[in-house]
Amino acid sequence: MQRLFVALAMPEDIRDRLAGPRAGLPGARWVPPENLHLTLRFVGEADGAAARDAADALSRIDAGGFDLALSGVGAFESGGRARSVWAGTEPEPALDALQRKVDGALARAGVRMDTRRFRPHVTLARFSGARAARLGPWLAANGLFRAGPFAVEGFTLFESALGRGGSVYRPLVEFPLRPAAPAPVLPVAP
Ligand code: 2AM
Repeated sequence: MQRLFVALAMPEDIRDRLAGPRAGLPGARWVPPENLHLTLRFVGEADGAAARDAADALSRIDAGGFDLALSGVGAFESGGRARSVWAGTEPEPALDALQRKVDGALARAGVRMDTRRFRPHVTLARFSGARAARLGPWLAANGLFRAGPFAVEGFTLFESALGRGGSVYRPLVEFPLRPAAPAPVLPVAP
């Protein structure tokens, strides 16, 4: 069995930009820079046949590349306890459209997956049981965080393996998107 998820990898310059917010929270388990990603859909445990079916279905997705900017930070909490902090994205219809295509492809392939509503984010740190109220200063200090835009030229099927030092993400298959349409050339006024 493999633990699978579909995600956008973050380019190196964006990972570097995320080094700013990735600090200043005692008790946070910061995601290592090489693991930073934006999950399109968490699949979970899948056997070899399901993994192949998922990869085959994802390879049939026809979608164009687009530009994406990261914007702002937020936190997931439950019962007053912080679970994670993350960087958000600028609203991007092409990202939402790609995410729906990923869900559609996985569903058509009969692959069981997580069904939570898509809330695009790049997880920066996780917590075990920190009081959510403690996050206030960090959220305020990083509220104006912006990075990008960067070109999204593909997406990736990842395997998540639990290593001794935490999760290790291994890209299994990369799926290119169609080149983004060039910006329209405006006529030059005489
Ligand atoms: P997160 O960033 O919000 O924690 C790999 O584990 C990726 O899949 C993570 O980005 C994680 O989201 C996401 N994911 C979604 N549901 C998950 C679950 N039930 N268990 C582990 N990861 C999950």
